[in-house]
Amino acid sequence: MTDDTQEQQITAAGNEMSASFLAAKKRSDATLAKLEENPGKFTMLTGDRPTGKLHVGHYVGSLRRRVELQNSGEFDKIYIMIADAQALTDNAEHPEKVRQNIMNVALDYLACGIDPEKSTIFIQSMVPELTELTFYYMNLVTVSRLQRNPTVKSEIQMRNFEASIPVGFFTYPISQASDITAFKATTVPVGEDQLPMLEQTKEIVHKFNAVYGETLVDPEILLPSNKACLRLPGIDGKAKMSKSLGNCIYLSESEADVKKKVMSMFTDPDHIRIEDPGKLEGNTVFTYLDAFSNEGHFAEYLPEYANLDELKDHYKRGGLGDVKVKKFLNNVLQEELSPIRARRAEYEKNIEGVYEILKKGSEVAAETAAQTLSEVKAAMKINYFDDPAFLEEQIQKFNE
Ligand code: TRP
Repeated sequence: MTDDTQEQQITAAGNEMSASFLAAKKRSDATLAKLEENPGKFTMLTGDRPTGKLHVGHYVGSLRRRVELQNSGEFDKIYIMIADAQALTDNAEHPEKVRQNIMNVALDYLACGIDPEKSTIFIQSMVPELTELTFYYMNLVTVSRLQRNPTVKSEIQMRNFEASIPVGFFTYPISQASDITAFKATTVPVGEDQLPMLEQTKEIVHKFNAVYGETLVDPEILLPSNKACLRLPGIDGKAKMSKSLGNCIYLSESEADVKKKVMSMFTDPDHIRIEDPGKLEGNTVFTYLDAFSNEGHFAEYLPEYANLDELKDHYKRGGLGDVKVKKFLNNVLQEELSPIRARRAEYEKNIEGVYEILKKGSEVAAETAAQTLSEVKAAMKINYFDDPAFLEEQIQKFNE
């Protein structure tokens, strides 16, 4: 596929396109190829803010990929972080919301197949080294650079922060650089909206290494492979799933609720009678099928069609009703979500066990971050009591 056709296709999915995104997508594909060639040499780090239960957008955008990568054996180390400190940057007045969602996010992780034997799940604020790193990295970033961050810009708008951005929120890209570099992560699987954070991290790494000597690892982003997964719309067809819009399908939702939501999904408003030709652009049901369905699902639930292309062709020609397509999507989603729901129910019966997983994971994470922090301080020459040269050099200086 040429760059031009790739650009058109991604634009058709409704995403803001830029040269920098396409370059990142290319790098991301190259990163994936490298992982497959050199298994066992990489470190993955990623995470989510605990502000609510996770939904199917999180799943196709990152969670599903994490589990596949975890099970591929390509990673030597995997860290999955519950980013509570970051969540507090725009929830300072709602600590209870953050506290209550720690367990929800942990349960969603475990339910999706994150395996605590293979992946370290931890809570960001339980690793105070991350805050200390952030303080030093702040010296390497300018205010105008943060103001240009497109994700921060759009979040400022969404949260009506125009006139009163908390400093902590404004600087969260720097704190995210600490999260990534503290674990020497080589690979960060996240959604497209996190691309500016990775770019900011890479700049900090380059600057740090140039000023203080080669210390930090330069990470690469791993973007979702399928364009429908880049930004899964809400069931109302709105650009993004969000709790406040009430347009999410949650991973922990009951079978009946998932079905109800699928049956109410936004399709093509001009597709009134079954005979009418239908539009695929902006048709949420088809976007979800792009993200979730495979040929196996057709064989199982809709054998009249070999694959999604055949179904789409029929819809465009006319003669295929929305209800039939929605029922198929419901079958596909239920197949994917029911093992997740069942595993979550099991873990819910063992909250003490989940608590132990988080506690243990946070201890392991803190040890790793402390090691990196001591390397950072040594590179910056502010490790006075771990550096015998400091005392010698000062004695000598004052003896002269
Ligand atoms: N910003 C991410 C989100 O909104 C969460 C996050 C915090 C993260 N630190 C990270 C993701 C480091 C990847 C790497 O979901």
